[in-house]
Amino acid sequence: MSDPVENPLREGLARERVPQPCTMIIFGASGDLTKRKLVPALYSLGRDRLLPSAFSVIGVARRDIGDEAFRQSMRESCDKFARRRPVEEALWKTFSDGLFYCNGTFESPDTYTKLKKQLDELDEKRGTRGNRVFYLSTPPNEYPAIISMLGQAGLINRDGDTPFTRVIVEKPFGRDLQSARSLNRTVHDSLRENQTYRIDHYLGKETVQNILVFRFANGIWEPLWNSKYVDHVQLTVAEAIGVEGRGGYFESAGIVRDMVQNHMFQFFCLMAMEPPVAFEAEAVRDEKLKVLRALRLLPSDPKLVAQNVVRGQYSAGAVGGETRMSYRQEKGVAPDSNIETYVAMRLFIDNWRWAGVPFYLRAGKALPKRVTEIAIHFKRAPHAIFPSAAAEIERQPNVLTIRIQPDEGIALNFFSKVPGPTTDVLPVPMEFRYGTSFGAEPPEAYERLLLDCMLGDGTLFTRGDEVEASWTFIDQIEKAWAQSPPTDFPNYASGTWGPDAAEQMLQRDGRAWRRL
Ligand code: BG6
Repeated sequence: MSDPVENPLREGLARERVPQPCTMIIFGASGDLTKRKLVPALYSLGRDRLLPSAFSVIGVARRDIGDEAFRQSMRESCDKFARRRPVEEALWKTFSDGLFYCNGTFESPDTYTKLKKQLDELDEKRGTRGNRVFYLSTPPNEYPAIISMLGQAGLINRDGDTPFTRVIVEKPFGRDLQSARSLNRTVHDSLRENQTYRIDHYLGKETVQNILVFRFANGIWEPLWNSKYVDHVQLTVAEAIGVEGRGGYFESAGIVRDMVQNHMFQFFCLMAMEPPVAFEAEAVRDEKLKVLRALRLLPSDPKLVAQNVVRGQYSAGAVGGETRMSYRQEKGVAPDSNIETYVAMRLFIDNWRWAGVPFYLRAGKALPKRVTEIAIHFKRAPHAIFPSAAAEIERQPNVLTIRIQPDEGIALNFFSKVPGPTTDVLPVPMEFRYGTSFGAEPPEAYERLLLDCMLGDGTLFTRGDEVEASWTFIDQIEKAWAQSPPTDFPNYASGTWGPDAAEQMLQRDGRAWRRL
């Protein structure tokens, strides 16, 4: 791991991007997210010298432990999960001196009175100047109470940014349009929209941000990025893992709510949107919203929906040689569960750029491997002058692949003449790999997002109207599925690429899913 000060680019970045002094208050401090992601990300920011000069964290949770026990448990987390390891003793000392704990229930006004007192004292002692970032990392049913209580306890400054109050809300933001709207109303009762940071960790991934840079820092793609040249687009989020002990949660979600409504729609929008006028929160989010609003609505008949949206659930099988149980055998899952662990959809964006171009999305658990990518399949050359190569060209047109994870990179396949006396052609790749070009390990998604929130930059966070627009689309699927429960679950074996119906959906269009 290279030292940050050795890297002049990093130093320049650090100078530009150090936030104002502040305190981050994490509700749900005994949870997994705090341990695995949030505190390790804050520590790594500290190691990169990106934390404010005065900075504190208060963990809020029910358990009755003190500051020291909280610090000890966070140290164990950082030892295990921080990107920058081993943890440096001197740095840990400075960082952990700023870690505090406040125990209490989220519904009790006493918790907020205690918290307020603690915050005021920290402002005095540590110079955090009343600037606050509240992070809601609790079960989502607690969000409304916490937001309202923060308001009632006078912990939110709605007027202006001095001092600033910002609230980060973890996913899921609602479970349908109605609940998302109701949560937006609660949020807006206490906060301005630009104080609200709905987090989606996919937007913190380097490769997802790079979609914007790739598209809009280079002039060569834009002329090709439309229905004249693009035949169709395939977006894949394949996971080899199953639900990993989160069966109880997954039973109330399913893959559409867990992956598509949020993560997948986010990078889908970045891929499909119009160029924003600036790389700035409102401009970027306006364009993403337009994509969601232009999504062609599904027919209301569930049978017709099934031609455009295929659902699946995994049975027992093997992934990478490891035996797997079926979804219905997982802990917390009903033995006759109808919850989907796989979905494939065929979407259209009804606007000038994408008229008639199908976007095929698939997401699934217990698939053969972990791959997240966008593959843009271009139309064939309009006139075939190499008859001997026609079949090959027909089989594999030019494809531009943006690999989000793993093996992060971008590849463009094009045809090349095979050396020799004939005019045979074969596709060859032109490759960019993050690892080779940049060497250094990219920061964790949460590092970037926590930093952006402290800086007041909402570009990589989701706006309220965006969330509602995505639920408007997703609700149609959930509604159709509720009307017509699956009759063939489980319908794909763990370690395979999903149900046959997903293949057939593309075959009907004369296309096929990429073999990954
Ligand atoms: C989470 C989902 O939001 O994202 C999980 O709840 C999923 O089910 C995870 O596994 C995927 O994130 P990543 O960063 O590992 O691709």
